[in-house]
Amino acid sequence: MSLDQDAVVVVVFDAYGTLLDVHSAINSQRDLLGDDAQSISDLWRQKQLEYSWLVGLRGDYHDFWALTEMALSYAFKAHDLETDTPLFQHLLDVYWRLSPYDDALSCLTWLKEQGFKTAILSNGSPDMLRAAVESAGISSQLDKLLSVDELKTFKPTPEVYDLVLSNFGVEKNEVLFISSNTWDVSGAKAFGFQVAWLNRSQTGQLDELPGEPDVEIPNLDALPDLLF
Ligand code: LAC
Repeated sequence: MSLDQDAVVVVVFDAYGTLLDVHSAINSQRDLLGDDAQSISDLWRQKQLEYSWLVGLRGDYHDFWALTEMALSYAFKAHDLETDTPLFQHLLDVYWRLSPYDDALSCLTWLKEQGFKTAILSNGSPDMLRAAVESAGISSQLDKLLSVDELKTFKPTPEVYDLVLSNFGVEKNEVLFISSNTWDVSGAKAFGFQVAWLNRSQTGQLDELPGEPDVEIPNLDALPDLLF
């Protein structure tokens, strides 16, 4: 695996799970949720993504925030929890302002110092992304926030990745796309970007076929070595 690093002009990040810690919402209420906390968080994420593929393929678009609320509702009911509760609303409030991973700001800052263009390309709605990056303190290091919402579909639909080309006026090989989500990595690679899989979990998870990444990194601190 290797990159054509000299060609890279724009570095584009997935948001949820890559720059923003999707499990930080549930982690904030781990004492209340007890032993079910991780399975609720995992099911919340799983259903959020499943619903995006479901409505994306069906063509009856609901934005990612609506899907996030529906997914949490499913996860709560699957664990015999009431949804008409302050806890349910609190978790959504926290999700609106998810914590960034520790390596996010330093990585983005370094990229800007080196002269790269930076962006998020996300299923998140524009309002979600604006609130999240402001709250995470990374908005000043991002040149663009690209949301699927204008296309009324979701990743890995090819038109979504094409938003990067139309917004930056670059060629596919000039884009380095970084995601922690293997299916997103596969979609971006199939589209033609240079792709790094951010394998944060390091749990022996295999990359996704078809469409293997060009490189695999355990965290964003590894990015400088990739690009120089
Ligand atoms: C996103 C989700 C899929 O940010 O992680 O697009």
